[in-house]
Amino acid sequence: MNADNNCIVIFGASGDLTYRKLIPALYDLYSIGRLTENFSVLGVARSEFSDETFREKMRGALLEAGNESSEMLEKFCSHLYYQAVNTSDSNDYGKLVPRLAELHELYQTQGNTLYYLSTPPSLYGIIPECLAAHGLNTEENGWKRLIVEKPFGYDIETAKALDIQIHHYFAEHQIYRIDHYLGKETVQNLLVLRFSNGLFEPLWNRNFIDYVEITGAEAIGVGDRGGYYDGSGAMRDMFQNHLLQVLAMVAMEPPAIINADSMRDEVAKVLHCLHPLNTETVKHNLVLGQYTSAEINGEKVKGYLEEKGVPAESSTETYMALRCEIDNWRWAGVPFYVRSGKRLPTRVTEIVIHFKTTPHPVFSQNAPDNKLIIRIQPDEGISMRFGLKKPGSGFDSKEVSMDFSYADLASPNLLTAYERLLLDAMKGDATLFARTDAVHACWKFVEPILAYKKNGGRVYDYEAGTWGPKEADRLIAKEGKVWRRPSGKMKKKV
Ligand code: BG6
Repeated sequence: MNADNNCIVIFGASGDLTYRKLIPALYDLYSIGRLTENFSVLGVARSEFSDETFREKMRGALLEAGNESSEMLEKFCSHLYYQAVNTSDSNDYGKLVPRLAELHELYQTQGNTLYYLSTPPSLYGIIPECLAAHGLNTEENGWKRLIVEKPFGYDIETAKALDIQIHHYFAEHQIYRIDHYLGKETVQNLLVLRFSNGLFEPLWNRNFIDYVEITGAEAIGVGDRGGYYDGSGAMRDMFQNHLLQVLAMVAMEPPAIINADSMRDEVAKVLHCLHPLNTETVKHNLVLGQYTSAEINGEKVKGYLEEKGVPAESSTETYMALRCEIDNWRWAGVPFYVRSGKRLPTRVTEIVIHFKTTPHPVFSQNAPDNKLIIRIQPDEGISMRFGLKKPGSGFDSKEVSMDFSYADLASPNLLTAYERLLLDAMKGDATLFARTDAVHACWKFVEPILAYKKNGGRVYDYEAGTWGPKEADRLIAKEGKVWRRPSGKMKKKV
């Protein structure tokens, strides 16, 4: 199914996200025929641009994203428009009324409008109010939807307050809280792997699973984003949203049917079952770290404190490792170890399901354990690891693997996360967007961690290019486990 005819209004149109992600994603959708000719994009920001200057900038974005200059590209750019608005002045939003009326008329969009909030979070509550002041939120003439970028709040209180503010003007069915991890093909594949194979689901519980590892590692540092990142840290930047959503996909119960409500009911349910931490338990289950400078491949890499925009005394964590448990029948007693960090040895996001060993070791005491590795990125795929006999005399075993790589699927139209999510929002499918109860559950769970940080909780140093502080190894070693040390490539040589 393709998108409805509609006008996409991007607030924050002069920003980085519009340039790097949104416009390239819309162009890709257009070039594979997933957008009808009846669409327009109205960029909105404070800067004074004409339609032509905006088009010129976006043309630059598309070329930078690797597209060739072509007739298709020019045609796409002709659908782009721009309106300067002082986004904190409610009266100024009046300018959008005739502009949108004109575009709806021109493209026969029946009033359907998708507002994308890609602005600083301080405007997330203000923009809906100002739109409403000019009647731009009502659905009497076509649907009106609001995509809100992360972060949705700064903690549970601010997330709730933001919800109240937005809900004054937009109903929950109009709100699409974007978490780009949910748009990743391999995250969605987790659901298909689990719920459409008789092979895995019977094993997917505490009777057969020993522990679960979730890793979101990045090789890059904070770069130019020090100013933003310092107020956020790995906990808010990666764990509270992306990694908890991934955890929910691993642990949720099968929904009765696949639709936005039943899927999101199950996600919220499992997030509510996370075993709550408290001031005491948080200390034993959490390790925070911050990278220090190092030489990587002969090049000196800055430590976090030397990055632009980072205060000299900052104790913001660029690494986190956490042991969580889920209090329900399926998962009672199974530890979930989640870690994420910047300046780790490689970029990799993966889930490792470690199965329990056989009840009695017939052949060897150190037979390899059975694991299922679900690689979200890069080198997307799945690898099953188990033990087989080493050729030759005796019955020693060695680890072998059965691998599936996404690259082997001839699928020319694989959508990127932003493409998939933009298209879903234009079709009115909220399945892969975070619902308010799930967002609150995530914030509630991390509350004691945020309090621990605020009260000066220990942040350990780790050298850039290593797998984080030694304390994170100890955290998992306490239970006789070890973190996997993944490399960028998943395929194993047998
Ligand atoms: C963003 C974070 O939400 O996700 C970044 O703000 C992080 O700090 C990025 O680098 C990771 O996304 P991906 O898709 O590259 O894994």
